[in-house]
Order: sequence, then structure tokens, then C-alpha cells
Amino acid sequence: MRMCLTADVGGYYTGAIGAGRDQFGKKGDFITSPEISQVFGELIGIWFVAEWMSQGRPRSGVELIEVGPGRGTLMDDVLRTIRNFKDMASAIDAVYMVEASKELRVAQKSLLCGEDAAMRESKEGWHSTCKYSDLPIVWSDSIKAIPHNAAKTPFIVAHEFFDALPIHAFQVVESALALDQYIVSDAAVAGNGRLAHP
Ligand SMILES: C[S@@+](CC[C@H](N)C(=O)[O-])C[C@H]1O[C@@H](n2cnc3c(N)ncnc32)[C@H](O)[C@@H]1O
Repeated sequence: MRMCLTADVGGYYTGAIGAGRDQFGKKGDFITSPEISQVFGELIGIWFVAEWMSQGRPRSGVELIEVGPGRGTLMDDVLRTIRNFKDMASAIDAVYMVEASKELRVAQKSLLCGEDAAMRESKEGWHSTCKYSDLPIVWSDSIKAIPHNAAKTPFIVAHEFFDALPIHAFQVVESALALDQYIVSDAAVAGNGRLAHP
């Protein structure tokens, strides 16, 4: 699945889709909530503020992390909303964007930092600065690259991301038992996947 979606050559999110086509939006292959209305991201922004309040309103050390950010629309709406809550806005140390696709990292950088903003590379990832403030935004292609620091307060959001991972599906059957299912290849019909119980 990772090969199909994000392989260096031929990945759906990494260039294989071809010029003139788009994954997202009305003219693309599918649409997601942040792309339908800015209200979705604004509500997630308010949810972040509520979570920050429930954590005792830390005055610094807050990190916002998004995994699989697509066009960056959700984080853009979140950051624009949080700007209105000055105490929380000033508590954010950095935004981390975990994105496997180089093409989408560039699209996200253009939206969040501006078309002309530079991206500086380090061993952590790629760095730029938010267009709304001087907040650092850091891209990485894996969540493992985000520095661990017990003194920080990270908030993580992932929207329409887990369906991009090869995880198990579960089916609730009459006996109320949840059956774990796998996608397997049917040897008799090469290339056809089918669901199977272990
Ligand atoms: C279905 S899109 C969702 C985009 C966005 N969250 C939205 O709701 O519009 C999945 C996103 O996850 C990214 N992605 C897929 N596999 C990934 C992986 N293994 N690590 C990081 N990002 C990944 C894709 O490049 C894309 O940005």
C-alpha cells in the first residue's frame, strides 16, 4: 500500500497522478471535509483551543502536529482560527507536518508560508515560517522524525489518514464478535483482493 501511495516512482501521492490532474477537490478523484468548507478546520481550531485549556493553558511548549495533511487546508484554517486566541497562539512553539509526498509538502508550504517562502533542509526535515506569524513550520516524511521532548505539549491531528495505511478491517457479526479481516490475494484470480478471516 505504501508503494502504491507514496513510492518514489509511481506513487499515487508522489507524482504518478500526472500533470493536469488532482487528487483532491471537485475536479479531482475525491473530496475531504477541509476542502468542502473552511468551517471544518475552524471548528478543529476551536477544539485545539479547548484541549489547550483543559491541559491547564500552558504558556509555551505547545506543538501542533498534523499527519497526512493533503493540501494543507486543514492546518491553514486551524492556524488562522487560533490567531484569534492570543494566549494559545503565543504558546505554540512549532507546527509539524508529517507528509510522505514531496509534491504535497511543497503545496502545503505554499499555502501555509507563501509561494516564495524558502524551505531549509535539516536532519529533522524541511523548515519554513508561517505566513500568519513567525511560527516555525517543519515538514518530515515520518512521525519518527519529530523530536521527543517530555517538556512539550503536543497535539496531534490526522484527518482521512488512517485509510491510507494497510491496517486490518473489522466486521461485527451476529454473535457480536468482531472478526479481524485481512486483504489477501486470490491465487486463482491473480490480482484480485478478497477479505478473509484469520
Ligand atoms: C486522503 S489524503 C488526506 C488529506 C487531508 N488530511 C484531507 O483531509 O484533505 C492522505 C494524505 O496522507 C498522506 N500520506 C499517505 N501515506 C502517508 C504516510 N505513510 N506517511 C505520511 N503521509 C502519508 C498523503 O500524501 C495525503 O496527504
